[in-house]
Amino acid sequence: PAAGWTVEADAVVVGSGIAGLTAALELRTRVPRVLLVTKDALVSGSTVWAQGGIAAALDPSDSPAAHLQDTLVAGVGLCDPRAVEVLVTEGPTRVRELVARGAVFDTQPDGQISLTREGGHHADRIAHAGGDATGAEISRALVAQIEAVRHDPGIEVIEHALVLDVLTGPPGPDGAPGAACGVTLHVIGAGQRDGVGAALGRAVVLATGGIGQVFRSSTNPASATGDGIAAALRAGAVLGDVEFVQFHPTVLWLGAGVKGQLTLVSEAVRGEGALLLDTDGVRFMPDEHPMAELAPRDVVAHAIVRRMAATGADHVWLDARHLGADFLRRRFPTIHERLLEHGIDLANDLVPVAPAQHYHSGGVVTDLVGRTSVPGLYAAGEVACTGVHGANRLASNSLLEGLVFATRAARHIAAKVAEGALPRQTPERRSGDAALVAAAARSRVQRIASDGPGVLRSGDGLRRAGAALAGVPTDAHERRDEGRALAAPQVAEWETTNVHQVATVLTAAALERAESRGGHARSDFPDRDDAWRLRLELALDADGRL
Ligand code: SIN
Repeated sequence: PAAGWTVEADAVVVGSGIAGLTAALELRTRVPRVLLVTKDALVSGSTVWAQGGIAAALDPSDSPAAHLQDTLVAGVGLCDPRAVEVLVTEGPTRVRELVARGAVFDTQPDGQISLTREGGHHADRIAHAGGDATGAEISRALVAQIEAVRHDPGIEVIEHALVLDVLTGPPGPDGAPGAACGVTLHVIGAGQRDGVGAALGRAVVLATGGIGQVFRSSTNPASATGDGIAAALRAGAVLGDVEFVQFHPTVLWLGAGVKGQLTLVSEAVRGEGALLLDTDGVRFMPDEHPMAELAPRDVVAHAIVRRMAATGADHVWLDARHLGADFLRRRFPTIHERLLEHGIDLANDLVPVAPAQHYHSGGVVTDLVGRTSVPGLYAAGEVACTGVHGANRLASNSLLEGLVFATRAARHIAAKVAEGALPRQTPERRSGDAALVAAAARSRVQRIASDGPGVLRSGDGLRRAGAALAGVPTDAHERRDEGRALAAPQVAEWETTNVHQVATVLTAAALERAESRGGHARSDFPDRDDAWRLRLELALDADGRL
Protein backbone atom coordinates (compact mmCIF):
# COMPACT_ATOMS: atom_id res chain seq x y z
CA PRO A 1 0.00 0.00 0.00
CA ALA A 2 1.11 3.57 -0.60
CA ALA A 3 2.56 5.36 2.40
CA GLY A 4 0.26 8.01 3.84
CA TRP A 5 2.93 9.74 5.91
CA THR A 6 6.71 9.80 6.15
CA VAL A 7 8.99 10.25 9.12
CA GLU A 8 12.76 10.68 8.78
CA ALA A 9 15.56 9.68 11.11
CA ASP A 10 19.19 8.68 10.87
CA ALA A 11 18.54 5.20 12.20
CA VAL A 12 15.28 3.27 12.33
CA VAL A 13 15.15 0.53 14.98
CA VAL A 14 12.35 -2.00 14.69
CA GLY A 15 11.44 -3.88 17.88
CA SER A 16 11.48 -3.22 21.60
CA GLY A 17 12.98 -6.33 23.18
CA ILE A 18 16.45 -6.27 24.66
CA ALA A 19 18.09 -5.82 21.23
CA GLY A 20 15.85 -3.02 19.96
CA LEU A 21 15.86 -1.06 23.23
CA THR A 22 19.63 -1.41 23.55
CA ALA A 23 20.21 -0.34 19.95
CA ALA A 24 17.92 2.69 20.36
CA LEU A 25 19.59 3.77 23.61
CA GLU A 26 23.08 3.37 22.15
CA LEU A 27 22.14 5.26 18.99
CA ARG A 28 20.35 8.09 20.77
CA THR A 29 23.56 9.59 22.11
CA ARG A 30 25.51 8.93 18.93
CA VAL A 31 23.39 10.00 15.93
CA PRO A 32 21.18 13.09 15.60
CA ARG A 33 17.85 11.29 15.29
CA VAL A 34 16.62 7.80 16.12
CA LEU A 35 13.23 6.30 15.44
CA LEU A 36 12.16 3.30 17.53
CA VAL A 37 9.13 1.45 16.23
CA THR A 38 7.47 -1.48 17.93
CA LYS A 39 4.55 -3.63 17.00
CA ASP A 40 2.89 -3.49 20.39
CA ALA A 41 3.48 -1.25 23.40
CA LEU A 42 7.12 -0.60 24.36
CA VAL A 43 6.90 -3.32 27.02
CA SER A 44 6.18 -6.30 24.81
CA GLY A 45 7.80 -9.11 22.85
CA SER A 46 9.71 -12.15 24.05
CA THR A 47 12.26 -10.44 26.31
CA VAL A 48 9.57 -9.73 28.89
CA TRP A 49 8.86 -13.47 29.15
CA ALA A 50 12.46 -14.62 29.63
CA GLN A 51 12.63 -16.43 32.94
CA GLY A 52 15.97 -18.14 33.56
CA GLY A 53 18.39 -15.32 32.96
CA ILE A 54 21.33 -13.97 31.08
CA ALA A 55 24.58 -15.91 30.82
CA ALA A 56 27.96 -14.22 31.37
CA ALA A 57 31.25 -15.25 32.96
CA LEU A 58 30.92 -12.89 35.92
CA ASP A 59 32.33 -15.11 38.64
CA PRO A 60 36.12 -15.04 39.18
CA SER A 61 36.16 -18.85 39.04
CA ASP A 62 34.53 -18.76 35.59
CA SER A 63 36.01 -17.47 32.33
CA PRO A 64 34.91 -16.34 28.87
CA ALA A 65 36.96 -19.28 27.52
CA ALA A 66 34.84 -21.74 29.52
CA HIS A 67 31.64 -19.99 28.37
CA LEU A 68 32.92 -20.16 24.78
CA GLN A 69 33.57 -23.88 25.11
CA ASP A 70 30.05 -24.63 26.44
CA THR A 71 28.50 -22.49 23.68
CA LEU A 72 30.44 -24.31 20.96
CA VAL A 73 29.48 -27.73 22.35
CA ALA A 74 25.78 -26.78 22.49
CA GLY A 75 25.97 -25.46 18.90
CA VAL A 76 27.15 -28.92 17.71
CA GLY A 77 29.93 -27.78 15.43
CA LEU A 78 28.03 -25.02 13.63
CA CYS A 79 28.78 -21.92 15.72
CA ASP A 80 31.00 -19.23 14.25
CA PRO A 81 33.80 -19.21 16.86
CA ARG A 82 34.62 -15.56 16.11
CA ALA A 83 31.06 -14.51 16.95
CA VAL A 84 31.05 -16.64 20.10
CA GLU A 85 34.36 -15.08 21.15
CA VAL A 86 32.78 -11.63 20.84
CA LEU A 87 29.70 -12.77 22.78
CA VAL A 88 31.55 -14.23 25.74
CA THR A 89 34.30 -11.62 26.04
CA GLU A 90 32.06 -8.55 25.70
CA GLY A 91 29.17 -10.16 27.63
CA PRO A 92 30.32 -9.45 31.20
CA THR A 93 30.91 -5.75 30.43
CA ARG A 94 27.52 -5.41 28.73
CA VAL A 95 25.77 -7.05 31.71
CA ARG A 96 27.49 -4.60 34.09
CA GLU A 97 26.32 -1.77 31.81
CA LEU A 98 22.78 -3.15 32.11
CA VAL A 99 23.15 -2.85 35.87
CA ALA A 100 24.35 0.73 35.38
CA ARG A 101 21.22 1.33 33.27
CA GLY A 102 19.12 0.32 36.26
CA ALA A 103 18.48 -3.42 35.89
CA VAL A 104 18.38 -4.99 39.34
CA PHE A 105 19.71 -8.56 39.40
CA ASP A 106 19.37 -10.92 42.36
CA THR A 107 22.44 -10.67 44.57
CA GLN A 108 24.24 -12.57 47.31
CA PRO A 109 24.50 -11.12 50.82
CA ASP A 110 27.93 -9.70 49.82
CA GLY A 111 26.30 -7.74 46.97
CA GLN A 112 27.72 -9.91 44.15
CA ILE A 113 25.26 -10.97 41.43
CA SER A 114 23.81 -14.44 42.22
CA LEU A 115 24.61 -16.92 39.50
CA THR A 116 22.87 -20.19 38.73
CA ARG A 117 23.37 -22.99 36.23
CA GLU A 118 21.30 -24.15 33.26
CA GLY A 119 21.56 -26.91 30.67
CA GLY A 120 24.90 -27.19 28.88
CA HIS A 121 26.77 -24.87 31.26
CA HIS A 122 29.66 -26.25 33.30
CA ALA A 123 29.72 -23.21 35.61
CA ASP A 124 27.26 -21.08 37.52
CA ARG A 125 26.99 -18.13 35.13
CA ILE A 126 23.30 -17.30 34.77
CA ALA A 127 22.41 -13.92 36.29
CA HIS A 128 18.73 -13.63 37.17
CA ALA A 129 16.30 -11.02 38.46
CA GLY A 130 13.17 -11.27 40.57
CA GLY A 131 13.99 -14.97 40.89
CA ASP A 132 12.56 -16.06 37.56
CA ALA A 133 11.49 -12.74 35.99
CA THR A 134 14.81 -11.72 34.44
CA GLY A 135 13.48 -10.50 31.11
CA ALA A 136 10.73 -8.45 32.71
CA GLU A 137 13.28 -6.63 34.88
CA ILE A 138 15.63 -5.97 31.96
CA SER A 139 12.72 -4.69 29.88
CA ARG A 140 11.53 -2.49 32.78
CA ALA A 141 14.97 -0.91 33.18
CA LEU A 142 15.55 -0.27 29.47
CA VAL A 143 12.01 1.02 28.83
CA ALA A 144 12.44 3.39 31.80
CA GLN A 145 15.53 4.80 30.09
CA ILE A 146 13.63 5.25 26.83
CA GLU A 147 10.68 6.85 28.64
CA ALA A 148 13.07 9.27 30.35
CA VAL A 149 14.20 10.63 26.96
CA ARG A 150 11.02 10.08 25.01
CA HIS A 151 10.30 13.75 24.53
CA ASP A 152 13.84 14.57 23.44
CA PRO A 153 13.98 15.77 19.84
CA GLY A 154 16.63 13.12 19.13
CA ILE A 155 14.29 10.17 19.49
CA GLU A 156 10.80 9.28 18.39
CA VAL A 157 8.92 6.18 19.49
CA ILE A 158 6.04 4.79 17.44
CA GLU A 159 4.12 2.01 19.17
CA HIS A 160 1.59 -0.39 17.62
CA ALA A 161 3.50 -0.23 14.33
CA LEU A 162 3.90 -3.42 12.32
CA VAL A 163 6.82 -3.33 9.91
CA LEU A 164 5.50 -4.34 6.51
CA ASP A 165 8.54 -4.17 4.31
CA VAL A 166 12.05 -2.84 3.97
CA LEU A 167 12.39 0.04 1.54
CA THR A 168 15.48 -0.12 -0.66
CA GLY A 169 17.29 2.24 -2.98
CA PRO A 170 18.43 1.52 -6.54
CA PRO A 171 19.71 -2.06 -6.99
CA GLY A 172 23.40 -2.69 -7.62
CA PRO A 173 24.65 -3.06 -11.23
CA ASP A 174 24.76 -6.86 -10.85
CA GLY A 175 21.17 -6.98 -9.62
CA ALA A 176 22.31 -7.02 -5.98
CA PRO A 177 19.70 -5.68 -3.55
CA GLY A 178 19.65 -1.90 -3.19
CA ALA A 179 20.59 -0.36 0.16
CA ALA A 180 17.94 -0.32 2.87
CA CYS A 181 16.67 3.18 3.42
CA GLY A 182 13.62 2.65 5.60
CA VAL A 183 10.58 0.55 6.27
CA THR A 184 6.89 0.77 5.58
CA LEU A 185 4.75 0.57 8.69
CA HIS A 186 1.14 -0.18 9.45
CA VAL A 187 0.30 1.82 12.54
CA ILE A 188 -2.83 1.36 14.53
CA GLY A 189 -2.60 4.64 16.35
CA ALA A 190 -4.12 8.02 16.22
CA GLY A 191 -3.45 11.28 14.41
CA GLN A 192 -0.67 11.78 11.95
CA ARG A 193 1.00 8.42 12.56
CA ASP A 194 -2.07 6.32 11.90
CA GLY A 195 -2.37 3.91 8.99
CA VAL A 196 0.35 3.04 6.49
CA GLY A 197 3.44 5.22 6.53
CA ALA A 198 7.12 5.18 5.73
CA ALA A 199 10.01 5.53 8.17
CA LEU A 200 13.16 6.57 6.35
CA GLY A 201 16.68 6.31 7.70
CA ARG A 202 20.32 5.91 6.72
CA ALA A 203 20.24 2.51 8.40
CA VAL A 204 17.56 0.10 9.57
CA VAL A 205 18.03 -2.25 12.53
CA LEU A 206 15.67 -5.22 12.60
CA ALA A 207 15.23 -6.43 16.18
CA THR A 208 11.85 -8.04 15.68
CA GLY A 209 12.37 -11.27 17.63
CA GLY A 210 11.31 -14.79 16.83
CA ILE A 211 8.90 -17.03 15.00
CA GLY A 212 6.90 -18.85 17.71
CA GLN A 213 3.55 -18.23 15.98
CA VAL A 214 4.67 -20.46 13.12
CA PHE A 215 3.86 -23.36 15.46
CA ARG A 216 0.69 -24.47 17.25
CA SER A 217 2.30 -24.10 20.63
CA SER A 218 5.24 -22.03 21.73
CA THR A 219 6.55 -20.22 24.77
CA ASN A 220 6.61 -17.04 22.64
CA PRO A 221 4.00 -14.31 22.87
CA ALA A 222 1.40 -13.77 20.13
CA SER A 223 3.53 -11.04 18.57
CA ALA A 224 6.29 -13.49 17.49
CA THR A 225 5.19 -13.80 13.87
CA GLY A 226 8.58 -13.69 12.14
CA ASP A 227 7.96 -10.20 10.70
CA GLY A 228 11.62 -9.22 10.54
CA ILE A 229 12.94 -12.41 9.00
CA ALA A 230 10.17 -12.36 6.37
CA ALA A 231 10.70 -8.67 5.54
CA ALA A 232 14.48 -9.20 5.30
CA LEU A 233 13.96 -12.17 2.99
CA ARG A 234 11.69 -10.09 0.75
CA ALA A 235 14.33 -7.35 0.69
CA GLY A 236 16.87 -9.81 -0.70
CA ALA A 237 18.77 -10.60 2.53
CA VAL A 238 20.46 -13.94 3.06
CA LEU A 239 19.04 -16.17 5.83
CA GLY A 240 21.06 -18.85 7.60
CA ASP A 241 20.65 -21.79 9.99
CA VAL A 242 16.88 -21.41 9.50
CA GLU A 243 16.23 -25.12 10.11
CA PHE A 244 17.49 -24.92 13.69
CA VAL A 245 14.45 -24.36 15.86
CA GLN A 246 14.79 -24.85 19.58
CA PHE A 247 12.10 -26.76 21.41
CA HIS A 248 12.25 -26.11 25.14
CA PRO A 249 12.12 -29.38 27.06
CA THR A 250 9.97 -28.29 29.98
CA VAL A 251 6.86 -26.43 28.91
CA LEU A 252 3.72 -26.95 30.98
CA TRP A 253 1.59 -29.62 29.32
CA LEU A 254 -2.12 -29.02 29.67
CA GLY A 255 -3.40 -31.34 26.96
CA ALA A 256 -3.27 -31.63 23.18
CA GLY A 257 -6.08 -29.15 22.67
CA VAL A 258 -4.22 -26.28 24.34
CA LYS A 259 -2.39 -24.08 21.86
CA GLY A 260 -0.92 -20.61 21.62
CA GLN A 261 1.52 -19.27 24.20
CA LEU A 262 2.25 -21.93 26.80
CA THR A 263 3.80 -21.58 30.26
CA LEU A 264 7.53 -22.15 30.42
CA VAL A 265 9.02 -23.93 33.42
CA SER A 266 12.52 -22.52 33.36
CA GLU A 267 15.58 -24.63 32.89
CA ALA A 268 16.80 -22.93 36.06
CA VAL A 269 14.37 -25.16 37.99
CA ARG A 270 16.46 -28.12 36.82
CA GLY A 271 19.53 -25.96 37.46
CA GLU A 272 18.50 -25.87 41.12
CA GLY A 273 18.05 -29.65 41.21
CA ALA A 274 14.64 -30.62 39.79
CA LEU A 275 14.53 -34.01 38.04
CA LEU A 276 12.73 -35.43 35.02
CA LEU A 277 10.65 -38.60 35.50
CA ASP A 278 8.69 -40.55 32.95
CA THR A 279 5.03 -41.31 33.60
CA ASP A 280 6.10 -44.55 35.31
CA GLY A 281 8.05 -42.43 37.79
CA VAL A 282 11.46 -43.47 36.40
CA ARG A 283 14.28 -40.92 36.13
CA PHE A 284 15.67 -41.30 32.60
CA MET A 285 18.15 -38.51 31.86
CA PRO A 286 21.23 -40.07 33.59
CA ASP A 287 21.16 -42.84 30.96
CA GLU A 288 20.97 -40.27 28.16
CA HIS A 289 23.84 -37.88 28.88
CA PRO A 290 26.58 -37.38 31.48
CA MET A 291 25.02 -34.02 32.41
CA ALA A 292 21.63 -35.73 32.96
CA GLU A 293 18.80 -33.13 33.37
CA LEU A 294 21.32 -30.38 32.61
CA ALA A 295 22.42 -31.69 29.23
CA PRO A 296 22.10 -29.22 26.34
CA ARG A 297 18.51 -28.39 25.56
CA ASP A 298 18.19 -30.32 22.29
CA VAL A 299 19.48 -33.47 24.00
CA VAL A 300 16.91 -33.18 26.80
CA ALA A 301 14.02 -32.32 24.43
CA HIS A 302 14.75 -35.27 22.14
CA ALA A 303 15.20 -37.65 25.09
CA ILE A 304 11.78 -36.55 26.37
CA VAL A 305 10.17 -37.11 22.96
CA ARG A 306 11.71 -40.61 22.80
CA ARG A 307 10.56 -41.36 26.35
CA MET A 308 7.03 -40.20 25.61
CA ALA A 309 6.97 -42.48 22.57
CA ALA A 310 8.27 -45.41 24.65
CA THR A 311 5.71 -44.96 27.43
CA GLY A 312 2.84 -43.91 25.15
CA ALA A 313 2.40 -40.74 27.22
CA ASP A 314 1.95 -37.21 25.97
CA HIS A 315 4.16 -35.68 28.69
CA VAL A 316 6.77 -36.45 31.31
CA TRP A 317 6.99 -35.11 34.89
CA LEU A 318 9.20 -32.44 36.33
CA ASP A 319 9.83 -33.15 40.01
CA ALA A 320 10.94 -30.21 42.14
CA ARG A 321 9.22 -31.33 45.34
CA HIS A 322 12.45 -32.11 47.22
CA LEU A 323 13.63 -28.50 46.83
CA GLY A 324 11.15 -27.33 49.47
CA ALA A 325 8.23 -24.93 49.44
CA ASP A 326 10.07 -21.93 50.89
CA PHE A 327 12.95 -22.14 48.46
CA LEU A 328 10.70 -22.70 45.43
CA ARG A 329 8.40 -19.80 46.28
CA ARG A 330 11.34 -17.46 46.84
CA ARG A 331 13.47 -18.58 43.89
CA PHE A 332 10.70 -19.09 41.31
CA PRO A 333 7.84 -16.77 42.28
CA THR A 334 6.53 -16.32 38.72
CA ILE A 335 6.53 -19.99 37.82
CA HIS A 336 5.08 -20.91 41.21
CA GLU A 337 2.24 -18.45 40.69
CA ARG A 338 1.53 -19.47 37.08
CA LEU A 339 1.41 -23.15 37.98
CA LEU A 340 -0.93 -22.46 40.89
CA GLU A 341 -3.30 -20.83 38.39
CA HIS A 342 -3.57 -24.32 36.86
CA GLY A 343 -3.95 -26.01 40.25
CA ILE A 344 -0.34 -27.28 40.32
CA ASP A 345 1.82 -26.67 43.38
CA LEU A 346 5.51 -26.88 42.45
CA ALA A 347 6.36 -27.86 46.03
CA ASN A 348 3.88 -30.73 46.31
CA ASP A 349 2.93 -31.84 42.81
CA LEU A 350 4.68 -33.37 39.85
CA VAL A 351 4.49 -30.91 36.94
CA PRO A 352 3.42 -32.31 33.54
CA VAL A 353 5.82 -31.01 30.88
CA ALA A 354 6.55 -31.60 27.20
CA PRO A 355 8.75 -29.85 24.63
CA ALA A 356 7.30 -26.84 22.76
CA GLN A 357 8.78 -24.32 20.33
CA HIS A 358 10.88 -21.78 22.17
CA TYR A 359 13.55 -20.10 20.07
CA HIS A 360 14.81 -19.71 16.52
CA SER A 361 18.56 -20.28 16.46
CA GLY A 362 18.85 -19.18 12.80
CA GLY A 363 17.72 -15.98 11.14
CA VAL A 364 19.02 -13.14 8.99
CA VAL A 365 22.74 -13.66 8.47
CA THR A 366 24.88 -10.87 9.92
CA ASP A 367 28.54 -10.13 10.38
CA LEU A 368 30.08 -9.24 13.73
CA VAL A 369 28.64 -5.73 13.68
CA GLY A 370 25.13 -6.77 12.75
CA ARG A 371 25.31 -6.00 9.02
CA THR A 372 23.11 -8.21 6.83
CA SER A 373 23.82 -8.89 3.15
CA VAL A 374 21.64 -5.86 2.26
CA PRO A 375 23.64 -2.64 2.66
CA GLY A 376 22.25 -0.44 5.42
CA LEU A 377 20.14 -3.28 6.86
CA TYR A 378 21.22 -4.56 10.28
CA ALA A 379 19.73 -7.28 12.44
CA ALA A 380 20.15 -8.03 16.14
CA GLY A 381 18.63 -10.42 18.66
CA GLU A 382 16.58 -13.49 17.83
CA VAL A 383 15.86 -12.35 14.26
CA ALA A 384 19.58 -12.43 13.47
CA CYS A 385 21.92 -15.28 12.66
CA THR A 386 25.20 -13.98 14.06
CA GLY A 387 26.65 -17.47 14.26
CA VAL A 388 26.70 -17.64 18.07
CA HIS A 389 24.09 -20.39 18.33
CA GLY A 390 24.92 -22.77 15.48
CA ALA A 391 22.62 -25.77 15.58
CA ASN A 392 21.34 -25.14 19.11
CA ARG A 393 21.46 -22.09 21.37
CA LEU A 394 23.00 -22.52 24.80
CA ALA A 395 20.57 -21.62 27.60
CA SER A 396 20.47 -17.92 28.51
CA ASN A 397 22.71 -16.87 25.63
CA SER A 398 19.80 -15.17 23.84
CA LEU A 399 19.39 -12.07 26.02
CA LEU A 400 23.18 -11.80 25.96
CA GLU A 401 23.32 -12.00 22.17
CA GLY A 402 20.71 -9.25 21.85
CA LEU A 403 22.63 -7.05 24.27
CA VAL A 404 26.11 -7.58 22.83
CA PHE A 405 25.30 -7.45 19.12
CA ALA A 406 22.74 -4.64 19.31
CA THR A 407 25.41 -2.55 21.03
CA ARG A 408 27.90 -3.42 18.30
CA ALA A 409 25.41 -2.68 15.51
CA ALA A 410 24.45 0.68 17.03
CA ARG A 411 28.06 1.76 17.51
CA HIS A 412 28.94 0.66 13.99
CA ILE A 413 26.04 2.63 12.50
CA ALA A 414 27.00 5.68 14.53
CA ALA A 415 30.60 5.46 13.31
CA LYS A 416 29.46 5.13 9.70
CA VAL A 417 27.01 8.03 10.01
CA ALA A 418 29.84 10.16 11.45
CA GLU A 419 32.08 9.21 8.51
CA GLY A 420 29.30 10.09 6.04
CA ALA A 421 29.39 6.49 4.85
CA LEU A 422 25.64 5.87 5.15
CA PRO A 423 24.13 8.41 2.74
CA ARG A 424 20.39 8.84 2.55
CA GLN A 425 18.85 6.91 -0.33
CA THR A 426 15.62 7.56 -2.12
CA PRO A 427 13.37 4.53 -1.81
CA GLU A 428 13.02 2.93 -5.16
CA ARG A 429 11.28 -0.23 -4.22
CA ARG A 430 9.24 -1.67 -1.48
CA SER A 431 10.48 -5.20 -1.27
CA GLY A 432 7.28 -7.04 -0.65
CA ASP A 433 4.89 -8.15 -3.22
CA ALA A 434 4.21 -11.24 -1.18
CA ALA A 435 0.93 -12.96 -1.89
CA LEU A 436 -1.16 -12.14 1.14
CA VAL A 437 -2.39 -15.02 3.23
CA ALA A 438 -5.76 -14.64 4.87
CA ALA A 439 -5.64 -14.31 8.66
CA ALA A 440 -8.06 -17.22 8.93
CA ALA A 441 -5.39 -19.53 7.49
CA ARG A 442 -3.07 -19.03 10.47
CA SER A 443 -4.07 -22.15 12.41
CA ARG A 444 -3.82 -24.26 9.24
CA VAL A 445 -0.26 -23.01 8.66
CA GLN A 446 0.60 -23.67 12.32
CA ARG A 447 -0.70 -27.23 12.12
CA ILE A 448 1.31 -27.87 8.95
CA ALA A 449 4.48 -26.47 10.53
CA SER A 450 4.04 -28.41 13.77
CA ASP A 451 3.56 -31.67 11.82
CA GLY A 452 6.33 -30.90 9.29
CA PRO A 453 9.37 -29.00 10.59
CA GLY A 454 8.36 -29.70 14.21
CA VAL A 455 10.34 -31.30 16.99
CA LEU A 456 10.92 -34.54 15.05
CA ARG A 457 11.07 -34.31 11.25
CA SER A 458 11.14 -36.71 8.31
CA GLY A 459 11.68 -36.29 4.57
CA ASP A 460 8.14 -37.44 3.81
CA GLY A 461 6.62 -35.19 6.46
CA LEU A 462 8.59 -32.21 5.20
CA ARG A 463 7.63 -32.82 1.59
CA ARG A 464 3.98 -33.06 2.65
CA ALA A 465 4.35 -29.84 4.64
CA GLY A 466 5.96 -28.06 1.67
CA ALA A 467 3.11 -29.10 -0.62
CA ALA A 468 0.48 -28.15 1.97
CA LEU A 469 2.04 -24.72 2.49
CA ALA A 470 2.14 -24.15 -1.28
CA GLY A 471 -1.57 -24.99 -1.30
CA VAL A 472 -2.55 -22.35 1.25
CA PRO A 473 -4.64 -19.79 -0.64
CA THR A 474 -3.74 -16.16 -0.54
CA ASP A 475 -5.84 -13.05 -0.47
CA ALA A 476 -3.96 -11.74 -3.46
CA HIS A 477 -5.03 -14.72 -5.53
CA GLU A 478 -8.59 -14.65 -4.31
CA ARG A 479 -8.92 -10.95 -4.92
CA ARG A 480 -7.36 -11.22 -8.35
CA ASP A 481 -9.76 -14.06 -9.12
CA GLU A 482 -12.60 -11.82 -8.12
CA GLY A 483 -11.23 -9.15 -10.44
CA ARG A 484 -11.03 -6.58 -7.67
CA ALA A 485 -8.16 -4.32 -6.74
CA LEU A 486 -6.26 -5.22 -3.58
CA ALA A 487 -7.67 -3.52 -0.55
CA ALA A 488 -5.19 -2.36 2.09
CA PRO A 489 -4.49 -5.47 4.14
CA GLN A 490 -4.87 -5.52 7.88
CA VAL A 491 -2.20 -6.37 10.42
CA ALA A 492 -3.41 -9.96 10.95
CA GLU A 493 -3.09 -10.66 7.22
CA TRP A 494 0.44 -9.34 7.11
CA GLU A 495 1.39 -11.35 10.17
CA THR A 496 -0.12 -14.52 8.73
CA THR A 497 1.68 -13.88 5.45
CA ASN A 498 4.94 -13.65 7.42
CA VAL A 499 4.13 -16.81 9.39
CA HIS A 500 3.43 -18.62 6.11
CA GLN A 501 6.61 -17.33 4.47
CA VAL A 502 8.77 -18.36 7.44
CA ALA A 503 7.12 -21.80 7.61
CA THR A 504 7.87 -22.26 3.90
CA VAL A 505 11.54 -21.31 4.23
CA LEU A 506 11.93 -23.40 7.37
CA THR A 507 10.39 -26.45 5.70
CA ALA A 508 12.67 -26.08 2.67
CA ALA A 509 15.81 -25.77 4.83
CA ALA A 510 14.79 -28.70 7.04
CA LEU A 511 14.22 -30.88 3.98
CA GLU A 512 17.63 -29.96 2.61
CA ARG A 513 19.62 -30.90 5.73
CA ALA A 514 19.83 -34.69 5.53
CA GLU A 515 21.13 -35.35 9.05
CA SER A 516 20.20 -34.76 12.69
CA ARG A 517 22.07 -32.06 14.58
CA GLY A 518 21.11 -29.76 17.44
CA GLY A 519 17.61 -28.40 17.01
CA HIS A 520 17.13 -30.31 13.74
CA ALA A 521 16.13 -33.97 14.25
CA ARG A 522 15.25 -36.19 11.25
CA SER A 523 13.84 -39.68 11.84
CA ASP A 524 15.08 -40.69 8.37
CA PHE A 525 18.60 -39.35 9.05
CA PRO A 526 18.95 -39.94 12.80
CA ASP A 527 22.73 -39.48 12.92
CA ARG A 528 24.96 -36.49 12.69
CA ASP A 529 26.88 -36.38 9.41
CA ASP A 530 29.90 -34.14 9.30
CA ALA A 531 29.51 -33.66 5.55
CA TRP A 532 26.71 -31.33 6.78
CA ARG A 533 28.96 -29.33 9.06
CA LEU A 534 28.05 -26.17 7.20
CA ARG A 535 25.59 -23.32 7.34
CA LEU A 536 22.71 -23.54 4.88
CA GLU A 537 22.04 -20.10 3.45
CA LEU A 538 18.87 -19.13 1.61
CA ALA A 539 17.76 -16.05 -0.31
CA LEU A 540 15.13 -15.18 -2.89
CA ASP A 541 16.24 -14.85 -6.49
CA ALA A 542 15.18 -11.98 -8.74
CA ASP A 543 11.93 -13.83 -9.52
CA GLY A 544 11.14 -14.22 -5.84
CA ARG A 545 12.00 -17.94 -5.77
CA LEU A 546 14.07 -19.55 -2.98
C1 SIN B 1 14.60 -20.85 30.61
O1 SIN B 1 14.45 -20.09 31.55
O2 SIN B 1 14.62 -22.08 30.68
C2 SIN B 1 14.79 -20.25 29.26
C3 SIN B 1 16.14 -19.75 29.18
C4 SIN B 1 16.54 -19.65 27.75
O3 SIN B 1 15.73 -19.84 26.85
O4 SIN B 1 17.72 -19.41 27.52
